[in-house]
Amino acid sequence: MCGIVGYIGSKEKRGFLINGLKELEYRGYDSAGIAVLKDNEISSFKATGKLTNLDAKTADFSSEGFGLGIGHTRWATHGKPTEINAHPHWGEFSYVIHNGIIENYKEIKDTLVSDGVTFLSQTDTEVIVHLFEKFIKIGENAFSAFEKTIASLHGAYAILLISKKEPDVIFFAKNAVPLIVGRSAENEIFFSSSDAPLIGWAKEVMYLEDGQYGWAKCKELSLFKSLKTQALNFKALSQDKILAQKDGFRFFMEKEIYEQSIVVGETLMGRIKDNSIVLDELKDICFEDIDAIKICACGTSYHAALSASYMFERLSKIRCSVEIASEFRYKQPLLDTKTLFIVISQSGETADTLEALKMAKNANMKTLAICNVDNSSIVRTADFTLLTRAGIEKGVASTKAFATQVVTLWLLALFIGDKKQNISQELMRLEIDALLHTPLVVKVNEIVHEKIRRLSKRYLHGHGFFFIGRDIFFPLALEGALKLKEISYLHAEGYPAGEMKHGPIALADSELFTIALMPKTLLYDKMKSNVEELSARDSTILAISPEPFDIADDFIKTNLHTHPMSEFFEMMVITQLLALEISIRLGNDVDMPRNLAKSVTVE
Ligand code: G6P
Repeated sequence: MCGIVGYIGSKEKRGFLINGLKELEYRGYDSAGIAVLKDNEISSFKATGKLTNLDAKTADFSSEGFGLGIGHTRWATHGKPTEINAHPHWGEFSYVIHNGIIENYKEIKDTLVSDGVTFLSQTDTEVIVHLFEKFIKIGENAFSAFEKTIASLHGAYAILLISKKEPDVIFFAKNAVPLIVGRSAENEIFFSSSDAPLIGWAKEVMYLEDGQYGWAKCKELSLFKSLKTQALNFKALSQDKILAQKDGFRFFMEKEIYEQSIVVGETLMGRIKDNSIVLDELKDICFEDIDAIKICACGTSYHAALSASYMFERLSKIRCSVEIASEFRYKQPLLDTKTLFIVISQSGETADTLEALKMAKNANMKTLAICNVDNSSIVRTADFTLLTRAGIEKGVASTKAFATQVVTLWLLALFIGDKKQNISQELMRLEIDALLHTPLVVKVNEIVHEKIRRLSKRYLHGHGFFFIGRDIFFPLALEGALKLKEISYLHAEGYPAGEMKHGPIALADSELFTIALMPKTLLYDKMKSNVEELSARDSTILAISPEPFDIADDFIKTNLHTHPMSEFFEMMVITQLLALEISIRLGNDVDMPRNLAKSVTVE
């Protein structure tokens, strides 16, 4: 989740750009850069790591007087977090910064390379500036060159571009990634990924819509969508910074739950083409040599691993076992070089997972990391990596990282199934349809959220919660219980529904809350019987299902879906919101629960 800032005006530009990027630090980044265009000269600086490095590099640079500036923090998705891959990227006379992913960058890059263009970076972004300059070289003016460039891009983007061809203009475009334009009383123009950098600078802001693009000069702003002029829609900017960082949500966790639709879209971007899964990162793995998968992880990532084990056996038709990393380390495991060893980690720094990975490497196994942070210890150690692309996650209780892990693993299960020729074209089509539907499924329904908020007041006491489910809804039950436990400090357990009668049902009474995950696409009748058994012992039941259930004390209705994973993801959001609302009512610090750490780098 990169950050963008831009400025047109006469004030010193470095100050606004660097401070603006600091306000966007909460979004996460691994490198940063700025470019300033003044008196027809462009000065550009980039640095890896923290913004203090860029600050130090630009310490002697200042730019009083009219000019333009653009600044960027990068969260690596295409290419390592190096200085060359940091933005801005340049051509012969123009500079660009970009958030998001250009899905068709390879096709564009191939054409540009055959035209003789040399690329410096591994990024998808660099195609934008070369394509823009190509249009200019064949005779377009800068405005139509920008318009044609944007029309050629597929994917998600917030783009700012400056060029010596129009030295007092910033070109901008937005699709599926936030971009805000601000204006001050002195007619300065600002750009930013969120409100926070603009507070104290801009008086009013306009939140661009998907598909909008245009160009800005000091006193002039032209906005278009599909070649048609658009009305400008500025409104007053609120001056609350913390609220601005949370985009108006009460907690980062809440914001991250709401962000899931966007980040899941990013996880999928460029990885599905013509009824097949494209994972270029894995092109050097020979799947013929692999006959089993072992996954190691901790916490939420372990639950993502358990969900994946069902998919690997069902879709890839490959044996899959899952272990908690801290257990794996000391059990003297038997390791086989024909087994693909997968670790899953949001942070890429979890000590137990990292050590398990090192054991697999020492045993000469092929290793693959599913991770959210490029260049983390786990990514650097593994032979191969699939990045989950969730952006920084600030809430200690993981939400969007889990969603993107499961989606990445689903892609991987289909990819391996295809490589091993175990998936028919028809099944692949159905799976891809469901995958592509996921960003919509995880979009929070405000009415359901409000219902959960009201319901939550009945679940603040009792002697415990059982989250129950079957099949892939069992790992989801484990994850639902973990979320609740982490932020409410109430005792909650996830259980396979069919196992309740073998012991835990002894706890059932009206003060035992059962959260029943009852999908229609998988084992509904079996689930129903298990819930009836609990109801008969007077447990208080909250049923989550598309089908109303008479004996449930409370009921949250989900949508009817044809694919179990769609039900999985819809129920995932509900369990996250339930934990959130219970924790808020109990007055807890949702983002920083007691005794927990986001990244656990000790045993
Ligand atoms: C900590 C966090 C959990 C996380 C677990 C694994 O316990 O509080 O939210 O699931 O570590 O972290 P990882 O970064 O490896 O996914």
